[in-house]
Amino acid sequence: MQQSLAFLLTSAIAATSACTIPTTPLSNTITDRFALQLQNASNPVVHNHFLNIWDWGGGDQHLFVSPSGNSTNELQLIDGVITLSSAFWDPPRRAVINGEYEPLDNTTKMFMTERGDPRAIWNVVYGCNPDTDALQIELAFKARGDELGGLMGVRDFNGGYDFRWKGPGTSVNNPERPWTHVTLVVVHNATFS
Ligand SMILES: *[C@@H]1O[C@H](CO)[C@@H](O)[C@H](O)[C@H]1NC(C)=O
Ligand SMILES: *[C@@H]1O[C@H](CO)[C@@H](O)[C@H](O)[C@H]1NC(C)=O
Ligand SMILES: *[C@@H]1O[C@H](CO)[C@@H](O)[C@H](O)[C@H]1NC(C)=O
Ligand SMILES: *[C@@H]1O[C@H](CO)[C@@H](O)[C@H](O)[C@H]1NC(C)=O
Repeated sequence: MQQSLAFLLTSAIAATSACTIPTTPLSNTITDRFALQLQNASNPVVHNHFLNIWDWGGGDQHLFVSPSGNSTNELQLIDGVITLSSAFWDPPRRAVINGEYEPLDNTTKMFMTERGDPRAIWNVVYGCNPDTDALQIELAFKARGDELGGLMGVRDFNGGYDFRWKGPGTSVNNPERPWTHVTLVVVHNATFS
């Protein structure tokens, strides 16, 4: 009895062991182009999928969870702002939060535009891959323009999933249309299946 309890405790500790996080701070500018992979192991419909772009007209690219839209390895982070590299996109498109506000869950859509809407601003941090425990580089949400805080997640939209920011201190959610918090992971030279 005691032995099996000890075994269970050891297994639980092993299962939650985390990779070693370096103490060196990371720059909030990443010029080597990358893709963004989503993680939330509790939602297999989005876990390990990618952030995709969709030509929405007027120069804007809207953001969807793969397989909706087109995959991209052409992202950069410039002063904390997700940017479609100016090597391919002239003028560059930047990720902003300013679309289709939804009072039912207090979320606002993130999309990419050349216009001056309030930008989504991120810190760059190390984390551990929840499946493999490998060290990874993540974007941690910092601010919408001048407004600090909140979280980025995804929510169903026409059979796919779009990206929605939930403001800090939000007290509402919509069980009819659940919102899933996601971790965004920087992946260089991603291969899309
Ligand atoms: C995907 O990219 C192709 C080639 O640029 C374009 O023709 C098509 O409209 C894009 N599809 C979406 C959903 O954005
Ligand atoms: C919605 O988010 C804002 C922050 O952007 C917060 O001040 C407000 O209290 C939230 N509203 C609800 C109903 O949760
Ligand atoms: C996964 O999503 C749920 C629902 O938003 C959230 O409660 C949970 O904290 C998320 N887990 C991670 C690791 O982000
Ligand atoms: C990505 O691919 C390019 C070109 O093949 C290569 O130069 C670069 O080192 C790769 N980056 C990483 C992080 O593997």
